[in-house]
Amino acid sequence: MTDHLRTTIQDGVLEITFARPEKKNALSNAMYRAAADALESAQTDPAIRVVMFSSEGDAFTSGNDLADFAGVATGRTEELQAGRFIRVLAQAEKPLIAAVPGLAVGVGTTMLLHCDLVIVADSAKLSAPFVNLALVPEAASSLLLTARIGHARAFAMFAMGEALTGLEACSLGLANKALAKDEVIPAARAAARLLAEKPLGAVMATKKLMRESEAILARMAQEGKVFGERLRTAEAREVFTAFAERRPPDFTKLAS
Ligand code: COA
Repeated sequence: MTDHLRTTIQDGVLEITFARPEKKNALSNAMYRAAADALESAQTDPAIRVVMFSSEGDAFTSGNDLADFAGVATGRTEELQAGRFIRVLAQAEKPLIAAVPGLAVGVGTTMLLHCDLVIVADSAKLSAPFVNLALVPEAASSLLLTARIGHARAFAMFAMGEALTGLEACSLGLANKALAKDEVIPAARAAARLLAEKPLGAVMATKKLMRESEAILARMAQEGKVFGERLRTAEAREVFTAFAERRPPDFTKLAS
């Protein structure tokens, strides 16, 4: 149970809202667990035809809670729920919609690659700066982002920490529409309601045909292994300590 994730069901749409605005909706283990549970049970709930991800405040999500990453890096937390969340996300058979009104960091961006319709604010900032965090891409983004926007741009996002605006994300095919910030959630809700009226069997069959599920899950497993190893490196410990101490990381004294 967590107060930081809310779910509502209306007109066949399950809306999952990241509700931790004071931390830019950073996703804690408890939030991942609740989101994965909701998404998993939606697959067999006849009252739910569409799932929409939404958020409170000005950010979509600042990604994984860095304190939880630090817990793994230092051996305090044994397992992150993030892995389960992205596996459930990748295996969702019902259609997924995301409303992104602002910042989307890390999984905030990579989860969009598993959503079927994405509405962003034109001013949103999408980033996946895994190398800056001494980590590697996750959620099969090493496969899916590269396929969507090409190697050069994907590498610049992963390794150089380059961000895309909502407008750029839209023109690169990562999102359907880039709107004024306040219009994002209403537009996503309207699309979700419209989608919920479509023949669900045909929607699900179409989604299934469009996704190479086996390749996606295989890449996730590969990434998960390397990600888990990287989380426990001295480089990663330096990143998380630096974030907690509000200073830039210093890698110059560390070997690879
Ligand atoms: N994990 C944990 N806490 C986070 C967080 C995260 N991913 N992102 C933001 N926060 C917290 C901040 O520590 C701060 O907490 P405090 O008020 O107790 O000090 C609060 O959220 C607000 O963030 P702040 O940094 O003050 O806001 P900002 O607008 O200046 O910057 C970000 C926002 C997201 C750019 C910046 O917080 C950031 O870089 N966060 C880390 C993002 C990240 O690396 N995510 C992991 C991706 S895999």
